[in-house]
Amino acid sequence: MRLLVTGGAGFIGSHFIEYFLNQYPQSEVTNLDCLTYAAHPDTVDRLAQLGGKKYSFYKLDIGDSAVTQILKDRKIDAVVNFAAETHVDRSILDPQAFVKTNILGTQNLLQAARTVGKIRFVHVSTDEVYGSLEPGDPTCTEATPLDPNSPYAASKAGADLLALATQRTYQQDILITRCTNNYGPYQFPEKLLPLVIANALEDKAVPVYGDGKQVRDWIYVEDHCRGIDTVLQKGKAGEVYNISSSAERLNIDIIKKTLGMLAKSESLITYVGDRPAHDRRYGLNPEKIRTELGWQPRYSLEEGLKATVDWYVKNQDWWKKVRNKDYFKYYQANYQPKVSDLSEAQL
Ligand code: NAD
Ligand code: DAU
Repeated sequence: MRLLVTGGAGFIGSHFIEYFLNQYPQSEVTNLDCLTYAAHPDTVDRLAQLGGKKYSFYKLDIGDSAVTQILKDRKIDAVVNFAAETHVDRSILDPQAFVKTNILGTQNLLQAARTVGKIRFVHVSTDEVYGSLEPGDPTCTEATPLDPNSPYAASKAGADLLALATQRTYQQDILITRCTNNYGPYQFPEKLLPLVIANALEDKAVPVYGDGKQVRDWIYVEDHCRGIDTVLQKGKAGEVYNISSSAERLNIDIIKKTLGMLAKSESLITYVGDRPAHDRRYGLNPEKIRTELGWQPRYSLEEGLKATVDWYVKNQDWWKKVRNKDYFKYYQANYQPKVSDLSEAQL
């Protein structure tokens, strides 16, 4: 297969490329990423070394008209679209950047795939499009109506609807995956778990939004990657597939568990103001991908969290490189969204 991965310099996309190159050594992977702040400076070289001649990289925005030519030149058979603005807090500060990449960028990719023709297109989406559950509600199935609450979630829902409409209108080979909260090595330290680990290792305050009793459904990144590959290989055009390890936890519980693994004191926990429109609970029902496509997770939360904590302890240079102010100043000057308004605890 000749695969185009967008956003492959980010957290999940880079894991997916690594997984795919290992799994299918005969395949070729082209990575298209415009390298926002969320793409760690070391990732492009790491993947180039890993992929050798089977791997190519284009520094390009998914909204660029040159995408069509790249699909043609590289004779692409399939696209997996990871590229997105992904951090909910940033979407509250600057929704426009999210609309530009997540909606307009995705539309450009869908159109480019249509122009070239005969391309399977997997669009990577999120449980956040379903909105918030109350405790005791059944988990969301693929038929649950979309009800997004943050600008990030609304932009992802918009992209999902465009992808489905494009499939129906032009009979394009398009599929959608919706996954829960990922964690694992190489996650940018603005997201909860890497932020908790990095702050704790530096004996800094660990910020907990609101009462900390929000629920997230956690999945180890490698299980998500195998889920996307399963959909790419076996999924049916026009279908949506939820991906979940069914590991729902209160934020405060997973934070305490992480601090425990690091042998750090719970006194680092600092309750701060809540996120506006903070979703109380996410929980996905993965029965469809399990029964129709035969996917199931391999990592328990305990195993995955242990592997993650160990990785951040052993790779402190990696996360320290993107936590200094100079790194953010560079992106502040060159990229949207502006990061100046984010709290000290998140830098
Ligand atoms: P990330 O923020 O780590 O990486 C995003 C990547 O996309 C970066 O490399 C960035 O440079 C690139 N990018 C951003 N805008 C771009 C543009 N306009 N053109 C080209 N490249 C661009 O994100 P992630 O956490 O790896 O998430 C990847 C995808 O998975 C996203 O679509 C996200 O919505 C979805 N998702 C994430 C999670 C999660 O828990 N992280 C869960 C479910 C779904
Ligand atoms: O559910 C999937 C989504 O998970 C993905 O689509 C998003 O791209 C990804 O960013 C993630 O969104 P969340 O908002 O759930 O993740 P985040 O790591 O920002 O926060 C997880 C929970 O922890 C959430 O309830 C907010 C809370 N939180 C977060 C941060 C950064 C805190 O209490 N303190 C913090 O400092």
